[in-house]
Amino acid sequence: MSGSLLPTYRPWPFQVVRGVADCIFDAAGKRYFDFYGGHCVCSTGHSHAKVVAAICQQAGELLFYSCAAEVPVRDKAADALIDFANSQGDVGARSVFFCNSGSEANENALKIAAKVTGRNRFVAFEGGWHGRTTLSLSVTDDAKISDPYRALVAPCTRLAWNSEAALDSLAFDDVAAVILEPVQSMAGIREVDRGLLEKLRERTRASGALLIFDEVQTGMGRLGAPFAASKYGIMADIITTAKGIASGVPMGALLMSESMAMQLKPGDLGSTFGGSPLACAALLATLKIINDEQLMQHAIEAETKIRAVLRKTCVREVRGAGLLLGLRVPDNATRLKKHLEDSGILVGSSSDAEILRLMPPLNISDEAIAALGNAIHIYA
Ligand SMILES: Cc1ncc(COP(=O)(O)O)c(C=O)c1O
Repeated sequence: MSGSLLPTYRPWPFQVVRGVADCIFDAAGKRYFDFYGGHCVCSTGHSHAKVVAAICQQAGELLFYSCAAEVPVRDKAADALIDFANSQGDVGARSVFFCNSGSEANENALKIAAKVTGRNRFVAFEGGWHGRTTLSLSVTDDAKISDPYRALVAPCTRLAWNSEAALDSLAFDDVAAVILEPVQSMAGIREVDRGLLEKLRERTRASGALLIFDEVQTGMGRLGAPFAASKYGIMADIITTAKGIASGVPMGALLMSESMAMQLKPGDLGSTFGGSPLACAALLATLKIINDEQLMQHAIEAETKIRAVLRKTCVREVRGAGLLLGLRVPDNATRLKKHLEDSGILVGSSSDAEILRLMPPLNISDEAIAALGNAIHIYA
């Protein structure tokens, strides 16, 4: 690794030099099936030809212009994202604000929640992971990254995950917003209980607090529906998304209800690079691929196939939905992860030592799924 690059993650034992569809290749030419998906980012696979073509074309036409100007590709991208979000049932998404990352999306969502409610306390959940900027960090449950900033972060009440009793005992009077991942990813793929989500919606609505779905991982078709909001049939005031939104080009977005959008005026939100023409072109190509190649349906079918190949193996439980899955391996998940890596298969870890995560491209192939199954079957 370069001595100039600040080490932020433990280095992998190989370099990644190329990606095609659901595979990446190291410098020696070894192929890995990518069930890690560049951490849930490479939604349409690596370097999908149509994404690459859209980026190249846009770069040649207009690489960048600020949001001060009207740029047609930005308008088209916003319309297409709203249409996509509401395409399997109205989730109430009416306006988009583009930014550059998941943390920035959550930062802006929490910030405007404080503005429109006039309150400054947030509610989040044990195990929730929402990013590293100051407000996002305030709601992230990861002491090792938030402790040094305890004096700077905003007040946050953290509820036990899926605990109705915890929700019942909460006073909402000064709560600006409740934020949650409908499927907690980093915590080890933990789905929210539908009843709890319904109750949360009722209580936030009654108290004037906003409900924010952090769909940075669950969004953009990964669960087999456009967003978790569509899958659960429950509307949030704001949905945040990022990761797979533009197939790897940095982009984040807030999808807001009409009443939220009506409470904001020009100047309340802004970003130099948010909604760059390049990212918008990549988003449009991503949405077209998801539709044309029926990737949401594919995600549902791939889930079924993955569950089937993992039967009668050391995987005791498969959690999650679509292509956001957690494999519970009570006996040394770390060793299995290493065995898979040696066998040319990348998976993710989680903060639960027993859970490995799968968050592959939405067009993961049958060949990759079979390879995963075979490698796990021969693991002793
Ligand atoms: C659910 C969730 N929210 C927010 C974030 C932060 O996104 P970013 O790293 O793009 O800032 C992440 C990143 O892993 C995430 O998984």
